Amino acid sequence: MQIPLPKLDLPRLPFTPEQASTIAGHVDALYLYLILITLFFSSLVVVLIFYFAVRYRRRAADELPRPVEGSLVLETLWTVIPLMIAMTIFTWGASLYFALYRPPRDAIEIFVVGKQWMWKFQHTEGLREINELHVPVGAKVKLTMTTEDVIHAFAVPAFRIRSDVVPGRYTYLWFEATRTGRFHLFCTEYCGTNHSGMTGWVVVQDPTEYQAWLSGGTSESPAAQGEKLFQSLGCASCHKMDVQGRGPMLAGLFGKPQKLDNGQEVVADEAYIRESILDPQNKRVLGFGSVLMPSFRGQVTEEQILQLIAYIRSLGGPQGGTTGGAGGTMNTAAPGAGGGTTSGIAPDTQRSNPVGGTAPQRTQNANTPAGNRPPR
Ligand code: CUA
Repeated sequence: MQIPLPKLDLPRLPFTPEQASTIAGHVDALYLYLILITLFFSSLVVVLIFYFAVRYRRRAADELPRPVEGSLVLETLWTVIPLMIAMTIFTWGASLYFALYRPPRDAIEIFVVGKQWMWKFQHTEGLREINELHVPVGAKVKLTMTTEDVIHAFAVPAFRIRSDVVPGRYTYLWFEATRTGRFHLFCTEYCGTNHSGMTGWVVVQDPTEYQAWLSGGTSESPAAQGEKLFQSLGCASCHKMDVQGRGPMLAGLFGKPQKLDNGQEVVADEAYIRESILDPQNKRVLGFGSVLMPSFRGQVTEEQILQLIAYIRSLGGPQGGTTGGAGGTMNTAAPGAGGGTTSGIAPDTQRSNPVGGTAPQRTQNANTPAGNRPPR
């Protein structure tokens, strides 16, 4: 469930990046609260040190201090008051956390794959970008992220979002940009020699400008690419669409609970589908316990797995309807266009410049990030 956040226009704190997402003001407000509490108690301690030093100084050389008994009132107060303050921080922080890490269902979906040392993006419509991400202003955007190699972290300071990107796992972020412009994105987890160069830009555009940019690329949707993979890898010989084959039917599966042959139940989400492709024997569907599906580990890249997931998702399921038009266009992508899917970035399907043509960006030269960076 999505916790709605009220709109918040807070003056920017000194030394903080600009606020360019709906969540940014809320994060800053919590920080301001923490800073004010810290300032208040630090000042209180300093003032009390001086006050007590004077008030309780030794007045005679042979003075004996009065014995101090405990005070129940004092002890209760300095336990209960800090507890209540800590709980306000906790509840505020927890509600922000839920808002930050539960993507809304009606969000635009973008796949993100981290790689030493670049960020690869693929839009639902099929467009790919490297180290640059185009999004429309005022729209919710959900990032489904993983990595081909080591742990990276995706962070956009102006949006106040950040998440680790972990091998073998999907992590999610979402944001809604509140103004157009270019905002720096960073890798914020040390990931090797060129970690510091693993940066890029989020380009926030007007919706019309964004649509123009989107339509400038000729490329297949991830779902259509996934469907081709599904055929070329031979998945379709067991997972049939109309009749029950040797494997479970996949239509309408996405997002639904699945009963397993060990009595457990899982939700058929991205992580489960990924696991079923790479380690099919881990969680076998009830009734298919004796079927030995081969593992596709090593045969598909992370990007291809995301495309397969997009395809299975496009076959329907509880969440399929909520993705709206995007879900509909997935199925209709013309088959036969383009060659086989590639593990890398096909230059003709990649655009990073809304104005220029479809000039391919350098993608091979991963260790010259400056070369990947678009002109400012
Ligand atoms: Cu990727 Cu640091």
